[in-house]
Amino acid sequence: MMPPLESHSTHDAEDDPRNASLQIFLNGSLVPREEARVSVYDSGFMLGDGMWEGLRMYDGVWAFFDAHMDRLFDSCKAVSLEIGMSRDEIRRALDATAAANGMTTDAHCRFMVTRGVKAKPFQHPGLSRSGPTVVAIVEHSKPVDSLQSRGIRLATVPQVRGLPMSQDAKYNSHSKLNCVIACLQAEQAGADEALMLDPHGFVNTTNACNFFIVRRGEVWTSTGDYCMNGVTRQKVIDLCHANGIPVREKNFSLYEAYGAEEAFLTGTFGAQTPVAEIDGKPVGEGIGAGPVTCRIRALYKDLVARHVAEIKATGT
Ligand SMILES: Cc1ncc(COP(=O)(O)O)c(C=O)c1O
Repeated sequence: MMPPLESHSTHDAEDDPRNASLQIFLNGSLVPREEARVSVYDSGFMLGDGMWEGLRMYDGVWAFFDAHMDRLFDSCKAVSLEIGMSRDEIRRALDATAAANGMTTDAHCRFMVTRGVKAKPFQHPGLSRSGPTVVAIVEHSKPVDSLQSRGIRLATVPQVRGLPMSQDAKYNSHSKLNCVIACLQAEQAGADEALMLDPHGFVNTTNACNFFIVRRGEVWTSTGDYCMNGVTRQKVIDLCHANGIPVREKNFSLYEAYGAEEAFLTGTFGAQTPVAEIDGKPVGEGIGAGPVTCRIRALYKDLVARHVAEIKATGT
């Protein structure tokens, strides 16, 4: 019998010893990693009351910065969370953090804003009076090769994506318990990550990335109603439209996902990551990316290169 494959996750990066001694942006200052601490009274720590963005630097440029800021500012406005920084100030903070760490490319940032330190250890947002806590962790980050060579094994889990009136999946909130529970369930089922359904049983998303299938040459993804409005998801849909690849945002079931020729995940970290199997059933050949995924990956790489060149040429 073949030994079981070692598990990996969609956000596995190559070990980089430089990440042990990073400078972290914390409330306006750059602080050594081991001294970068927030209060036990912080709203993010106590309640998961905060928002974050994952951004990636390619060749000195934070890719699709405006789209990330649109999502962050919309989320913060919706929960009355004042970031206390403009978009330009955020960009400068990220640039300064990358520069302090000697990074010009292959850097990944988790930018986080919480409702700040609370006066008492209770839920009411009125107790968070001291202003937000703002942190940027920027790491040297190269996705491990196995993500592309082996793909991700998904398991469908009981934990579903909820309706927007409970906690809208579009909030990139600090509390990711819904996704964490899903991921635990997948791990306990022997898979790498979770495939989550919507409240009607249609295939929706994974715990950490958006989900696409390729069927009869068409690219399908969920309607977007119950998942994160992923920046990479939208770029892939736009690229398909621009390059004559049929793409549909639609409801589909596991029946159609199991029968797909290809499946892949999208996210800022890994761009497009192939799916090798769903619930133990191989997708296509069951290894690496199929031809449509490869084509989309190449188109996305080219899009990032053009975007970076444009930002560098115009400075905006
Ligand atoms: C649950 C979830 N889905 C999908 C994504 C991918 O979004 P993006 O492409 O903007 O990185 C993220 C990223 O934060 C996420 O948290």
